[in-house]
Amino acid sequence: MDQSPPPIQILEPGQVPDPTLALPPRQPQPWDTVAYIADPDRFCRQNFHRHGPVFRTSVFGGTTVFVGSAIANQMVFNGDLKYTEIALPTTTMTMFGEHSLFQRPDLHGSRKTALRPGFTGANLDHYIPRLDTLIGQGLGTWQPGDRVPLFPAVADLCFDALVPLLLGIDLNDSQGDPWAGLSLSAKPQLCSLYQTFFDGFYGLVPWNVPWTSYGRGLQARSQLLEFMAGIVARRRQETQTTQSLDPRNDFLAMMLAQQQADPQGVFSDALIQNQCLLQLWASHYEISGLVSSWMEQMGRHPAIVERLLAEQAQVWGSAPDGDPALSPSALKQLPILESTLKETLRVTPPSSTATRRLTRDVVVAGLLFKQGWGLVAEPRIAHIMAEHFQDPDRFDPDRFLGDRNEGKPYTFIPFGGGVHACLGAQMALVVAKVFAIHLLRQFTWAGVEPPRYVQFPLKHLKADYCIQLRSRSR
Ligand code: HEM
Repeated sequence: MDQSPPPIQILEPGQVPDPTLALPPRQPQPWDTVAYIADPDRFCRQNFHRHGPVFRTSVFGGTTVFVGSAIANQMVFNGDLKYTEIALPTTTMTMFGEHSLFQRPDLHGSRKTALRPGFTGANLDHYIPRLDTLIGQGLGTWQPGDRVPLFPAVADLCFDALVPLLLGIDLNDSQGDPWAGLSLSAKPQLCSLYQTFFDGFYGLVPWNVPWTSYGRGLQARSQLLEFMAGIVARRRQETQTTQSLDPRNDFLAMMLAQQQADPQGVFSDALIQNQCLLQLWASHYEISGLVSSWMEQMGRHPAIVERLLAEQAQVWGSAPDGDPALSPSALKQLPILESTLKETLRVTPPSSTATRRLTRDVVVAGLLFKQGWGLVAEPRIAHIMAEHFQDPDRFDPDRFLGDRNEGKPYTFIPFGGGVHACLGAQMALVVAKVFAIHLLRQFTWAGVEPPRYVQFPLKHLKADYCIQLRSRSR
């Protein structure tokens, strides 16, 4: 019988750890937070090469262990209610609000289960024709010959595509008045509030006053919640008039339908408004990061673009009579496209995972992790490990195809993993695929200069990075 200890061992409260156990390498240094924020890629890469995939730091105060190995990631991702708690600064937790999935671990499972249909399965399939139209229309404003500031241009189109899918309204609707009865009256106002809200998450001064970014973020948060409350009230009124609410139409409709079916269930008005606020925020920044980084990569890899075109021709034929509409089944037949998106997420993961704090001593692969320490599972480490990815510095989508099948759970972690694994991962890939198909049909493009990235808090191309668009002759 195998007598070896389990790979993840949780010590009982009061249990004294074996004194011969080693701690993760590296002494935390006072400058770690500044070094990490200044350049997270370099911080992770340098320390990984010196100390291996698990090392101690003082990032965000106290001892925080950065991890990238599969077994340590697994430990970080699955400790809720057993040996970890979410350890975000109070300011960040307040910005998320009490109805986010990072609050109340006791309610996390029921809330997550209730939210899931809004981003997956039949509802997600149902969004595709609408997404196809919205992204097609949006890209109609891009012209061959344009020099496009990539991240802001993609972010603008993503916003226009995501608002209808999440909130059920089209802010560009020229037929009616999409702003009627709402507390805001124009898209720039809404986007600017979102930017202030976003900046508030990372404010260093935790005072709720107008001269801190945290204070301004909180102010923006309440204005955005008032806006969401208006949208919810308007939808409820429309539903009462028309007597119809198709839960597949959009995320808000799904939540309202569940509320109608079970008024005492998960979906209180406050939770619905907070979820509208958060999911639009999360999906918008993350998907914009993915699509723009994918475009940057494709601009540098024409041979891969040729393979993507051949794949599309196989699905839709090489001389389409106009551009055929996109269907859920067709989107599932594009493994090469999917592999390029995954490879983009591997080399430029938009976000790290949230910090956890250990509530018990834990032993992982012979290393002692002490109660009270912070933990961050970092894709920036996991994704550059040769044990996880062959020749990791190479952009090579084939690693996700066929027999190679790299990217196993806990090694490929752009969407986190375990208990808090991203709820919008499938939706992100679907939106990115629709974007990519339209782009490939219409344009060729190349960067006008080497790419430069904003690294923190989310990784995306700098706003002034431009591409040159050309028409794809077919
Ligand atoms: C490229 C796109 C995206 C990336 C890279 C991404 C990344 C992540 C990561 C790393 C986590 C885990 C955080 C942790 O464990 O601390 C997460 C969680 C989450 N994501 Fe995403 N995300 C993306 C798109 C989306 C979209 C489109 C939505 C919804 C519309 C979404 C909703 C969520 C939610 C609700 C959670 C929390 C899940 C939980 O706590 O159980 N994300 N995401």
